[in-house]
Amino acid sequence: MLSLLAPWACVLAGCIFVSSAEVFNLSDQYPPLWNESPGQFSDYSMENGKYIIDPWVYPKRMGMYKILLNKTASYFEKFAPDNEQNFLWGLPLQHSWQFITGRLVDPTRKTDCGYESGDRLCISVDSWWADMNYFLCALPFLAAVDSGIMGISSDQVLLLPPPKDQTKFCLSVSSCQSSFPSTMRKWKALYKHLQSPSSSFEDLLKYLWEAHVSSLKDGYKIFEDRLDYYSKPEAGFGKDWCVVLDYLAAASFPTIFSTVSEFQKALPPRVLVDGDRAPFISDFTDLQNIVLLGLKLLHEVDSATGSLSLAIWKILMKTQAAKTLLLEFFEAVLAIFNPTFLG
Ligand SMILES: *[C@@H]1O[C@H](CO)[C@@H](O)[C@H](O)[C@H]1NC(C)=O
Ligand SMILES: *[C@@H]1O[C@H](CO)[C@@H](O)[C@H](O)[C@H]1NC(C)=O
Repeated sequence: MLSLLAPWACVLAGCIFVSSAEVFNLSDQYPPLWNESPGQFSDYSMENGKYIIDPWVYPKRMGMYKILLNKTASYFEKFAPDNEQNFLWGLPLQHSWQFITGRLVDPTRKTDCGYESGDRLCISVDSWWADMNYFLCALPFLAAVDSGIMGISSDQVLLLPPPKDQTKFCLSVSSCQSSFPSTMRKWKALYKHLQSPSSSFEDLLKYLWEAHVSSLKDGYKIFEDRLDYYSKPEAGFGKDWCVVLDYLAAASFPTIFSTVSEFQKALPPRVLVDGDRAPFISDFTDLQNIVLLGLKLLHEVDSATGSLSLAIWKILMKTQAAKTLLLEFFEAVLAIFNPTFLG
């Protein structure tokens, strides 16, 4: 059992390590251009009674998250002030990490989309990360519109298509509904329970993760071939990441601002290139190297056991005793990686 948990422990050890860090300055960690991004529907243009949003421009896509965070804030007040416990923060923070680390650029280099020297704010339709993120942006956003919590009606917003492969993306509440009915249902289930005063934080997190995993699975099937544009280590990391999310989901990882922004410091700070081999990447921190290796090992264990490890993990995560045991185990691992941690 320990060998099964070990790679996972590497990942979470990184997480616990960072969350034990001193109090940090929240406003330093806001996504780039957060303040400049649209914060209400009227910041977007309107045509024929519909708000028009171009999700292929970084601040415009970020604005969708900003509105979502704003419109859901009141439902999280009962857990903590200032939207601090709003677990939807995980989505814009992930997107901001993709932007900062250069993962939204055109990996084929046929255009200057996303590059510092070119159109810096452009989000490339050829970026695997950007396409996967689309399913974690457009779908949760449009499902929120359809749930009535955004203050506009379902036919009042339209997303602009990317320059190519338009048919792979849904652009409105109705087209997302018909193309990805199951995932839209799951996001709507989250918003429905969010509005119910009796829902607990843990219950809501479960709905969030069900919808999150469902969005990823939809996107993964469609865009797997985009991984061919990347180096072997980067493509491998993308695949590892998708597997790891299943484990994060089963553990109901709380994707609130503070945990996600700290956890992301443990993720690769740039796109991986040929020759990058964790834990020996010289421009990465020890933590980034360990976590990258941990993700890879977890994926290997998952594949080798035919996801039996995930099944076992899910059962384990149902019992409090196991969660406690796991935490103690992480502490032991931490003590090895970072001898000063416990004392
Ligand atoms: C946090 O960072 C922002 C921007 O760098 C700065 O304006 C603010 O004063 C900082 N707050 C604290 C409490 O250090
Ligand atoms: C939401 O946005 C509106 C308009 O920009 C602003 O007045 C309000 O304070 C925001 N609410 C929260 C909770 O951020």
